Amino acid sequence: MKKGAPVALLSSFQIPYVADNIAGGLVIDHHEQTLKFPLTLSTPSERFADHVTAPNIETIVSLAKRRGFVFHSSEIYGGLGSAWDYGPLGVELCNNVKRAWWRWMVYERDDMEGLDSSIILNRLVWKYSGHEETFSDPLVDCRECQTRLRADKLDYKSETATVEEAIRARQVKCPNCGSTDLTEPRPFNLMFRTTLGAASADDDPVALAYLRPETAQGIFINYLNVQTTMRRKLPFGVAQIGKSFRNEVTPGNFIFRTREFEQMEMEYFVRPGEDEETHQYWIDNCLDWYLGLGLARDNLRLYEQPKEELAHYAKRTVDIHYRFFPEREEDERQWDELMGIANRTDFDLKAHSKKPEDTEGKRVNPDSTDDLSYFDEATKERFYPYVIEPAAGVNRSVLAFLMDAYTEKTTDKGETRVILKLHPELAPIKVAVLPLAKNKPEIVEMARGIKRQLQPSMRAVYDDTGGIGKLYARQDEIGTPFCVTVDHQSLEDEAVTVRDRNTWEQERVKVADLQEHLQRSLESKVVSQSA
Ligand code: GAP
Repeated sequence: MKKGAPVALLSSFQIPYVADNIAGGLVIDHHEQTLKFPLTLSTPSERFADHVTAPNIETIVSLAKRRGFVFHSSEIYGGLGSAWDYGPLGVELCNNVKRAWWRWMVYERDDMEGLDSSIILNRLVWKYSGHEETFSDPLVDCRECQTRLRADKLDYKSETATVEEAIRARQVKCPNCGSTDLTEPRPFNLMFRTTLGAASADDDPVALAYLRPETAQGIFINYLNVQTTMRRKLPFGVAQIGKSFRNEVTPGNFIFRTREFEQMEMEYFVRPGEDEETHQYWIDNCLDWYLGLGLARDNLRLYEQPKEELAHYAKRTVDIHYRFFPEREEDERQWDELMGIANRTDFDLKAHSKKPEDTEGKRVNPDSTDDLSYFDEATKERFYPYVIEPAAGVNRSVLAFLMDAYTEKTTDKGETRVILKLHPELAPIKVAVLPLAKNKPEIVEMARGIKRQLQPSMRAVYDDTGGIGKLYARQDEIGTPFCVTVDHQSLEDEAVTVRDRNTWEQERVKVADLQEHLQRSLESKVVSQSA
C-alpha cells in the first residue's frame, strides 16, 4: 500500500487512519492526532529544526551519568552487563513517570483498581499461562566468534526464505565478525530460574521457581479476588506497576533492553464482542498519554504486529513505537517498541480456570481450584471475559522522555547549553532556590528559608556551589522548570526573581506569593504542554 494512502475506518470510534505497510507490520497513523499534534516533516534535518531531540542514545547515557540520572551497576567491580542503577535524579524521574501513569490509569477513572502481586509465583502459573513452553527467543551462536544472537533480529536480505533457511544457505552474516558459520536457531526460555527453600538443590524440580517475566499473570490469578472484594461489574480494569525479569539473549542499548526492568501494565476485562472496540480505545488513549507528557508526534508511530509476530495469547497487538535510533539512516531501523497494547482474548482467564475441558472431556487445567468465569446478572449468561492489555515499560518510557526532552541551545557567546525540556510533571526537581551571593549570610538564610517553605508542596533544592550562570545551566540540564534567585534587593523588597527554563525569561515575584505563583505556573505548563 502506498505510504499515506487512506484506508477504511478501523474502529467503531470512526477515526480515519492512514496506513503504511512496512516490513510485514502495518504502521498506522492517526489523523485526529496529526491534526492536534501536527505530524511534522520526515527528513532528520527538517525534523530536528522544529523539535530538537537527542541525536542518539549515547548522548543520553553521557548526560545520565554526568548528572546523576543513571549509573552503570556494580561499576567498582567492573560493572555487570546491561544492569543500571538509578541515581538521585533518575529515581525521581522514574517515580514521576509511575505516578503520572497511576494517576491517569487509576485515580482519574471510575473503572479501575490497583494491585501489587508477588514477583515469585507458584510455578503452575507459568505452566498454565504458556510461558514455560513458549516464552522463548530463537537463539543462534556464531561458531567463529561465539557471539550469541537472536535469530529474529538478524539482518538478512531474502524475500522468501525463513531465517532458518537463510542461515542454512549461509546468507546471514554474524553482525560481530561477519562469518556466515551460524548454528540453527533453537528456543531459549527467557524466564530466570531460582529455587525456593534453604535446603533445596539447584536442580530440584520441586523447588524450581521463576522470577516473573511480566506482571500480568499476577493480575489474572487475582482477577476473582479483585472482582468480588471490590464488587466490580464488567467492564473494569486492574493496574499494576512492578519489576519483571527476562534473561534476554541480547540486552543492550542502555536502559532500552535489560534483564531486570519495570512494567506498568493494566488488564481490562470486557464482554466478548466488546473487545475490538475497547482495544482500539486503549490504543488511542495510550498514544494520547505519551503525547500529553510531551513526546513529539513525529517520534511516535503505531505498529500493527503481523500474525507471525503475535504472542501465543494475542488476537491482535498494536505497539507504540518510539524513534529510539534517530541516527540510523534507514527510517525503518530508527523505531522500536515503547509499549504494546494486546487483545489477549479469554486465553488467560480460561487457562487458569478449573472448568474448561478438552474434546475428550478432560480438564485442561487439573491443578486450578477456581473458575474465573463471570456471571452476567442482566443476561443470565456465564462466560470468560476478554482482556485488553496496555503494557508499558517504565525504563523505556524514561529513555523516550529523556531523548525527546533533550535540546541544545547556543548562547549569545556561542556556547552550547543543554536544556532538558521535560514535562513539568516528570521533572525530577520543580524549583531550585539560588542565592546570588553565597558570602552574604542574610541572602543565604533567606534562600534556605524559601526552599524549606516550598518543599512540602513541590520538590525543591538549594544550591550555592557556583556562580549564578553556572547554577542556571546546571538546572537547565536536569530539566528544572523554575529557578528562584535571591539577591540583595530581595532583602529590601521581599521579592525574588523567577526564571523560566524554556524561555530564560525572568520575572519578579513577592515571596509571600511565591508558592502559589509557582504552583499555578507549573499547572499551566502542564495544561499547555498537553493541550
Ligand atoms: N504482559 C505483556 C508484556 O509483557 P511485552 O511487550 O513483552 O508485553 C511490555 O512487554 C513492555 O515492557 C515493552 O513494551 C517494554 O516497554 C517493556 N519491556 C519488555 N522487555 C523489556 C526489557 N528486556 N527491558 C526493558 N523493558 C522491557
